Amino acid sequence: MNRLAAISKQLIPSCPSGSSVQPKFTHGDFKGKRVLVTGAGSGIGKEISFHLAREGAHVIALDLNEEALKSVHKAIGGEYVVCNLTDGEATKKAIAALGRIDCLVNNAGVTALDPFLDVKLKDFDFVMSINCRAVFVVGQAVANKMVNQGTGGTIVNMSSQASERCLADHTAYCTSKAAVNMLTKMMAFELGKHNIRVNAVGPTVVMTEMGKKAWPPAKAAPMLARIPQGKFAQPYDVAHLVLYLLSDKSDMVHGSMIPLEGGFYTG
Ligand SMILES: NC(=O)c1ccc[n+]([C@@H]2O[C@H](COP(=O)([O-])OP(=O)(O)OC[C@H]3O[C@@H](n4cnc5c(N)ncnc54)[C@H](O)[C@@H]3O)[C@@H](O)[C@H]2O)c1
Repeated sequence: MNRLAAISKQLIPSCPSGSSVQPKFTHGDFKGKRVLVTGAGSGIGKEISFHLAREGAHVIALDLNEEALKSVHKAIGGEYVVCNLTDGEATKKAIAALGRIDCLVNNAGVTALDPFLDVKLKDFDFVMSINCRAVFVVGQAVANKMVNQGTGGTIVNMSSQASERCLADHTAYCTSKAAVNMLTKMMAFELGKHNIRVNAVGPTVVMTEMGKKAWPPAKAAPMLARIPQGKFAQPYDVAHLVLYLLSDKSDMVHGSMIPLEGGFYTG
């Protein structure tokens, strides 16, 4: 046993998973874990799915884009579910048909950009239905499964830096993500006793398809200037934090929205 491992053993005999504390950081053991990731067909959800698969998880990739899901499935195995999250009843049925779920990443999201005075009701409803209502529908269906399984589990909801700051033309989006933060707290508040841990992450801009739509160069430059680290987040930055929150390593983190914004909130 090396020196660090010996010290770790004296200080912390075991962590909740029963494993000894390793000198080198790992995300924890996802082998045998069945993890549902929504919006797994592209962008951040796809990146998270790849990281989970690399760490041994059986990824259940959910998206409305079947072609994208097939390509993810070909690369990482696991299983996939084609589902439109705007349809609450279909979503509940799709989740009921799945087997055991140990972890959930409520990631799917959309945006619609307009100044407040011009926001159309249909756009507001659309953004809220996926970014907020679907997080509730999927979260409730999966949490019920976890309770019935008697296994507990971990859940990460995708929030955004936009949940705590106003961004021009982002009325529906900012509102939906602020709701995700409170939904995360409510889930944590009521599900903790069932050994279900719930947190959210709040990335700054990530240049996915959504990022490119919301942040064309003329808007991206002033946003970048407000981030003390002078850079946007990469999909892997988000994946690393999500895997940490899903794993035993974050055992006492519960009900939090962890920003991932390069210091944007300091301004
Ligand atoms: N890109 C950013 O700058 C950024 C920043 C902070 C938070 N986020 C959040 O991260 C999450 C992922 O965003 P992204 O940038 O990867 O976006 P993206 O557009 O690249 O991917 C979103 C995925 O969700 C799927 N999806 C959309 N509507 C769906 C529906 N009704 N049913 C099922 N699947 C649906 C899409 O098909 C797509 O595969 C979202 O919740 C987003 O709000 C993004």
